[in-house]
Amino acid sequence: MFDLTDQVAIVTGGANGIGQGIAEALAKAGAKVVVADLDEEGGKKVAESISGDFLKLDVTDKENAEAVVNKVVEKYGKLDILAANAGIYPNVTIEDMTEDDWDKVFDINLKGMFFIVQPALKVMKANNYGRVVVTSSVTGSNTGYPGGAAYGATKIAILGFIKSAAMEYAKHGITLNAVQPGVIATEGLKKQLAGLSEGAAQYIPMKKLGDPEDIGTAVAFFASKEAKYITGQSLIVDGGQTLPESPGDVL
Ligand code: NAI
Repeated sequence: MFDLTDQVAIVTGGANGIGQGIAEALAKAGAKVVVADLDEEGGKKVAESISGDFLKLDVTDKENAEAVVNKVVEKYGKLDILAANAGIYPNVTIEDMTEDDWDKVFDINLKGMFFIVQPALKVMKANNYGRVVVTSSVTGSNTGYPGGAAYGATKIAILGFIKSAAMEYAKHGITLNAVQPGVIATEGLKKQLAGLSEGAAQYIPMKKLGDPEDIGTAVAFFASKEAKYITGQSLIVDGGQTLPESPGDVL
């Protein structure tokens, strides 16, 4: 696939689901991967399976995020790739949504993304090289579902963030891009959006949910040296889910 030999990567939310798929894809391409996650048990397991490292991270804790980046640089001397993927997707309708519900999803998905991207960009800039790939979603920019209003708002905000960030760092050899997964079969999805997880396949032209590996492949592409002239962009990886003009068009 892509050759990431000698590249050093951090994957947030790498202990499970899509993050695990990203960590595995980057490791398969030769990168040294640091799995950074709240989930210590799952994170250590993934790290061990790809001969990488695990660091405990709560992306809502600014100091913790800076410390994770600094520890990686202390050990490896650099940070080439950041996959900012940690996120939650609580299912809460507007009628039932509390201020805490709203704040929690924004704190993790949006502010948490910023907290890890900022220190990563600092060390990448010093090295005049970097690849940042954030996990957005088709939700917000292309689709919606009842209960997904706050979540969708965080995911389209991420797309807004990378466009200006990409401009600020373009002359420093750093690219920032996003992946927009459709419905990907993860434990998180099964737990949080059980109905969507079961019923979605029939509305997807490829008639199946995506695998974490499918997102990992897209991240490895953006993370490659060869993707050097692509920045501020996003790639939908959804088996054609967002293509139909009406459900009747899905054959
Ligand atoms: P998941 O629930 O399986 O995994 C999420 C990981 O993030 C877990 O390992 C969890 O411990 C970690 N995490 C949660 N809060 C954290 C925090 N505060 N600090 C550090 N780590 C934290 O979820 P999944 O399905 O793998 O989703 C991953 C990302 O992909 C999310 O950003 C989600 O919004 C996005 N996404 C997922 C889709 C899907 O269909 N599964 C579709 C579109 C986007």
